Amino acid sequence: MQTPVTILILAAGLGTRMRSRKAKVLHQAGGRPLIERVAETALEVASPGDVFVVVGRQAEEVCAALEGRGVGFIHQAEQGGTGHAVMVCREQLAARPGLLAVLYGDCPLLAAATVRELIARQAASSSAATVITTTVEDPTGYGRVLRDQAGCVGAIVEQKAASPEVLAIHEINSGIYCFRAELLWAHLDEIRTNNPAREYYLTDIVAIFRRAGHLVQPFHLDDPSEVLGINTRAELAALDRLLRERKARELMLAGVTLEKPETVIVDEQASAGMDTLIEPFAQIRGRTRIGEDCRIGAGAILRDAELGDGVEIGPYTLVQGSRIDSGARVGPYARLRMGAHVEAGAQVGNFVEMKKTRLGAGSKSMHLAYLGDADIGPGVNIGAGSITCNYDGERKHETRIGEGVFVGSNATLVAPLEIGEGSYIGAGSTVTDPVPPGALALGRARQVNKPGWARKRRKKTAPE
Ligand code: UD1
Ligand code: MG
Repeated sequence: MQTPVTILILAAGLGTRMRSRKAKVLHQAGGRPLIERVAETALEVASPGDVFVVVGRQAEEVCAALEGRGVGFIHQAEQGGTGHAVMVCREQLAARPGLLAVLYGDCPLLAAATVRELIARQAASSSAATVITTTVEDPTGYGRVLRDQAGCVGAIVEQKAASPEVLAIHEINSGIYCFRAELLWAHLDEIRTNNPAREYYLTDIVAIFRRAGHLVQPFHLDDPSEVLGINTRAELAALDRLLRERKARELMLAGVTLEKPETVIVDEQASAGMDTLIEPFAQIRGRTRIGEDCRIGAGAILRDAELGDGVEIGPYTLVQGSRIDSGARVGPYARLRMGAHVEAGAQVGNFVEMKKTRLGAGSKSMHLAYLGDADIGPGVNIGAGSITCNYDGERKHETRIGEGVFVGSNATLVAPLEIGEGSYIGAGSTVTDPVPPGALALGRARQVNKPGWARKRRKKTAPE
């Protein structure tokens, strides 16, 4: 029978070295909060009912970041150190048999395969615990691993408490462990706060085990990159860079062209299809999905956008939470937000803003328009400078424009408004009443020409 495993993620700390009001595990790299990555790794290894997260600083936000994943939460009201973070879990976790793996929320690159291997090694051994260690060029800030003659871990000494000899050790503690649960709970309360930080260091458990005659085995990783902790914004930026590079490579291997890939930002959960080309400085954020054969212009920012195939996004276009169907063209300098939907083959040009608006297949709005809360049918032309007046100061209203309507330039469409299919709106019209299908609507003053007026005026104003 397989040994039961519980995974505990420590994520209650503020992360003082981030110098932030925001809890460290909520800071983002690759477009996602650190805690989300660690939780996902845990969930690849264990079922949600066996994964617990210790929350404290900004507990509500951390829980929200993991909402819907089914993991359990344990509150650590005061952050008394990593040992204390485990102590507060006693009530909820001590009765769980088998193994307890502890991960730190600030160690986001850890791979599920490594956690599985850690658990397998501990399950196969008679040690009290297995600790992932690694050797780094600059061990500053990390706990140092002291080995005994047999090569087992004798103790972990924190930077702040280390002597010069210990500081010279380059083998570090990753903060990732697998314990025999029963032994951990039996000895956990022996941890004291007799260190410069006056904290309960979970790492002290190693020496405590040793004194009680239990072994702690190291699981040394040759490649440290997977277990590097994030403690400062500089480290966060380095992690972000690495994740961006990784994502860019993944896209390129999947057949996406990235011009100057080092300038392009693609969030981890975004995707793009084959033969799509992404120009320099584009940002593909959130859960954006881009089809095949698209072109994303320089400096365009797409967030949670959905693009069909063969879509062209001009430079410096913003698309947020909106959908653009195959063959449509949007931009340059357009802005789509809050559920805008550009249907197949439609075109949206420069300085056009669309909010909660459908632009039907093949329709065009090429210049300087605001289309808000509008349902625009197929084959419609929206003239330059036209706007939907969707807001009356209190509420938003809808504009419905039927198939094949021609809206002349600079029309002011006052919602709620219905414009029947195939009708024409004269340029410069202010339209407040429904327009029947096939009609011409003119909502402007008739032009008056006064012959010879200019000459008379000049005479009047000429100096004597
Ligand atoms: C810790 C280890 C160190 C190791 C390093 C690896 C200890 C004492 N030290 O140091 O040996 O080399 O990680 O990255 O464990 N946390 C809580 N509650 C608390 C304190 C911390 O939940 O009261 C959480 C934090 O949110 C964080 C994790 O535990 O996710 C680690 O805490 P952190 O303060 O970053 O420990 P380090 O100083 O990095
Ligand atoms: Mg840390």
